[in-house]
Amino acid sequence: MTESQVKKIGVLTSGGDAPGMNAAIRAVVRTANYYQLDCFGIREGYSGLMEGNFTKMGPRSVNNIINQGGTILKSARSLEFKTKEGRQKAFEQCQKIGIEGLVCIGGDGTFTGAKIFYEEFGIKVIGIPGTIDNDIFGTDHTIGYDTALNTAMEAIDKIRDTATSHNRVFFVEVMGRDAGFIALNSGVATGSLDILIPEKKYSIENLFRNFRKAKKSGKSSNIVVVAEGEKLGSIYELAQQTKAEFPDFDIRVSVLGHTQRGGAPSCADRVLASRLGYGAVIGLMEGKTNVMAGIRANQLVYTPIGEAIKKHNEMNGDLIKIAEILAT
Ligand code: F6P
Repeated sequence: MTESQVKKIGVLTSGGDAPGMNAAIRAVVRTANYYQLDCFGIREGYSGLMEGNFTKMGPRSVNNIINQGGTILKSARSLEFKTKEGRQKAFEQCQKIGIEGLVCIGGDGTFTGAKIFYEEFGIKVIGIPGTIDNDIFGTDHTIGYDTALNTAMEAIDKIRDTATSHNRVFFVEVMGRDAGFIALNSGVATGSLDILIPEKKYSIENLFRNFRKAKKSGKSSNIVVVAEGEKLGSIYELAQQTKAEFPDFDIRVSVLGHTQRGGAPSCADRVLASRLGYGAVIGLMEGKTNVMAGIRANQLVYTPIGEAIKKHNEMNGDLIKIAEILAT
């Protein structure tokens, strides 16, 4: 490799935590060490960047974290960094210790901040997609998505035991503020009757029709997976409306919530995080900036952050159809 374009870099995690963020931090720190760059861990995302909450990290600072959920650097959603004054403070802190490049691990909010910071102050930035929602363009999967998906699947499997034993209908809410990836895939994997996602137009009549079909075919229990961001109404409203239409149904609601964000990362997430952490440092060394490292079709690729935020990975139409066919 020709000479590195940066000598001192920082790494931060921001926005919602996701399993595998620690594996990404580890990969950034160890790759930086391998290529003799100084690497600083920045605590609590952009808040720590503005406050100068930096710690020099070496290979031993990231011992035994590849298997841990959460983020050892902690995370935050900073309002102050959204202001020019906040970003000016952050720039001054970078200048104080000579940070030339930042690896920002997070989702679209994190990337928006990184992009503006680079455009205003010229500090090189490279993003690593870390969010359970999988809603970032430029990578097949985001770090944390696979683990969250498996957590949701295991939880729904357990709920199924009760649903079957008591002939019940369960509405299960999974995370995904704006995206239905967790809902669609966990719904298919658990054989749910219906899956409601924000990307698909739907009416309550669709749902009722599926319940009627299921009843007619002799199904005595049903699970409906609902993405947090679906547009038909809250999960409680859906349950109420269903009860009004089918008074004999014994209905329960279960919201999986933040259980999906925690826990040890899956093998796929650890490997993805390791590849992206490495890729981010290599990108900075080569002088890349304002891009996100991603893996598409098993290749390391860099996508302009602006595109990663704006564009969306399409929901798999086949999978939506398959879910419908297999449900009854
Ligand atoms: O973006 C990840 C995510 O888990 C969303 O699915 C969810 O809506 C949101 O974060 C919850 O955020 P918070 O932990 O701030 O409540």
